[in-house]
Amino acid sequence: MQVVVETERLILRTHSMVDLDALHTLTSHPDVWRFDPGRQRTIEESRALLVWRMMEYERRGIGRLAVVLKATGQLIGYCGLQLCLLEECYELNTPEIEFFYGLSRNHWGQGLITEAGQALIRYGFEEHKLKRIISSALSDNQRSINVMRRLGMRVETCPCDPNWVVGLIDNPRQ
Ligand SMILES: CC(C)(COP(=O)(O)OP(=O)(O)OC[C@H]1O[C@@H](n2cnc3c(N)ncnc32)[C@H](O)[C@@H]1OP(=O)(O)O)[C@@H](O)C(=O)NCCC(=O)NCCS
Repeated sequence: MQVVVETERLILRTHSMVDLDALHTLTSHPDVWRFDPGRQRTIEESRALLVWRMMEYERRGIGRLAVVLKATGQLIGYCGLQLCLLEECYELNTPEIEFFYGLSRNHWGQGLITEAGQALIRYGFEEHKLKRIISSALSDNQRSINVMRRLGMRVETCPCDPNWVVGLIDNPRQ
């Protein structure tokens, strides 16, 4: 496991299979799966997803990371940068890098994903020289939209689908 980013309260590190139980437990809470993927995953689905995410990181050098609380060493969420193509959308059908995230239900309300996002966006801009980073969410996922705003993204209704919003932030140095 490799530490990719460190913040005051968090370590963002690559995954290993030992993360499976913690990830499956935290993503089994209905508030966490409600908007993505919209139903509870089976343990087999969680295992397949974790394997796929680990291979993605290995191949691309970006992808999903474990969010670990420094104080306890507990895995409390996931976040990452991933390739994204909003194919349906004429205005945004360019390849983009998306910041995505999820946190265990009992760690909401402490600014933890905002803290992770600030550091990961800085990392994406400085280390990977990304020109911009986007996020996307269903329009009624207000907490996710609030995260985008706290990260300084401009939030727009998706031009091709009013049920979605897109957050965008440009690299000030590119
Ligand atoms: C999206 C998600 C990670 C947001 O979690 P969150 O706890 O609301 O977001 P943050 O960690 O940034 O915390 C912000 C909250 O902490 C509070 N807070 C406390 N200390 C803070 C600090 N130092 N800095 C910023 N906010 C702080 C904020 O006021 C805010 O509280 P509020 O919800 O009462 O307004 C969470 O709702 C989630 O996991 N959802 C399920 C997965 C999901 O939908 N992912 C997105 C798919 S598009």
